[in-house]
Amino acid sequence: MIKNDASNAAMPSLSPMVYGTWRMLDDKPSVQDINRRLNRCVELGITTIDTAEIYGGYRVEAALGNAMALSPGLRDKLAIVTKAGIYVPNDLSPQRKVGFYDASAAQLRRSVEQSLRMLGCEQIELFLVHRPDWLTGVEDTAQGLNQLLQEGKIRMAGVSNYTASQFAALNSFMGVPLYTNQVEFHLLRMDPMVDGSFDQCQQQRVRPMAWSPLAAGRLFDANEPAAVRLAQAAAVLSPKYGGATLEQLAYAWVMAHPSRPYPVIGTNKIDRIESAVKALSVRLEREDWFALWVAAQGRNIP
Ligand SMILES: NC(=O)c1ccc[n+]([C@@H]2O[C@H](COP(=O)([O-])OP(=O)(O)OC[C@H]3O[C@@H](n4cnc5c(N)ncnc54)[C@H](OP(=O)(O)O)[C@@H]3O)[C@@H](O)[C@H]2O)c1
Repeated sequence: MIKNDASNAAMPSLSPMVYGTWRMLDDKPSVQDINRRLNRCVELGITTIDTAEIYGGYRVEAALGNAMALSPGLRDKLAIVTKAGIYVPNDLSPQRKVGFYDASAAQLRRSVEQSLRMLGCEQIELFLVHRPDWLTGVEDTAQGLNQLLQEGKIRMAGVSNYTASQFAALNSFMGVPLYTNQVEFHLLRMDPMVDGSFDQCQQQRVRPMAWSPLAAGRLFDANEPAAVRLAQAAAVLSPKYGGATLEQLAYAWVMAHPSRPYPVIGTNKIDRIESAVKALSVRLEREDWFALWVAAQGRNIP
């Protein structure tokens, strides 16, 4: 069986934290700003960049390509994860009247070829089907992924937001096993621990990716009762973990799951990226991990 860790030379591993670009254009950065952020990520050991064709109104991939091109050699230091399969009405596609999913082989090929052009490279290290498409059979999706793998346009294939059974169905048609399932997992959404997703990852020796590890910023919302309880619990734990902040404890909480999720962090601020990597050295003791679970849930364990 192919394992997705560094012990398998054919499969590059991801960096322990992944930098996500969903919000990258929100604060209207210049191409130089993005380039600085990417270079700082590399210095900090964050060499995997998560993106998607849909991000930033289908504009983030091109911005990333332009920013990488400013530093010769930068692209080679990075592993790019991109996704496709969600098509929503936007100014670049005014003919679309409604959003839809399309994970057919033909559409995945069109999207990958477009992503390669936008990113300015010849291969995508990891390509994910962004969401399950209810209208495409898994055999069709797998055929598209298998062909893109064979042609070297993508180095690895995976999925995002798939249920365990959707993952298993698609995987059964894959020539190379799916590399990951990227799912929403954080202190305010614990479903993957109990819906079979993370059990399946362990069974398949697959490391999941955890998107929105800070609950998309809701972890800091003073109007969210669970977030308030978590801030109080973090303040109690912080001295024991060298003054760790709520966000560092939240990343450590995600990474502590035995399926070893890769957190996909989403801040646009360089000082917060610098702070995030410090969470890599926070190892929560069992009772402290459960103290955060209790604070998030507002109840004791069953
Ligand atoms: N596969 C999927 O379907 C899917 C879906 C969603 C996201 N993703 C991926 O996951 C990545 C991360 O998602 P995310 O952006 O939601 O992640 P996140 O890290 O949970 O949230 C980031 C948000 O939290 C804010 N934040 C961070 N630290 C803060 C602090 N100390 N105080 C207050 N606010 C703080 C950030 O604002 P600042 O920028 O101001 O720091 C940003 O708005 C995305 O970029 C994307 O790559 C994937």
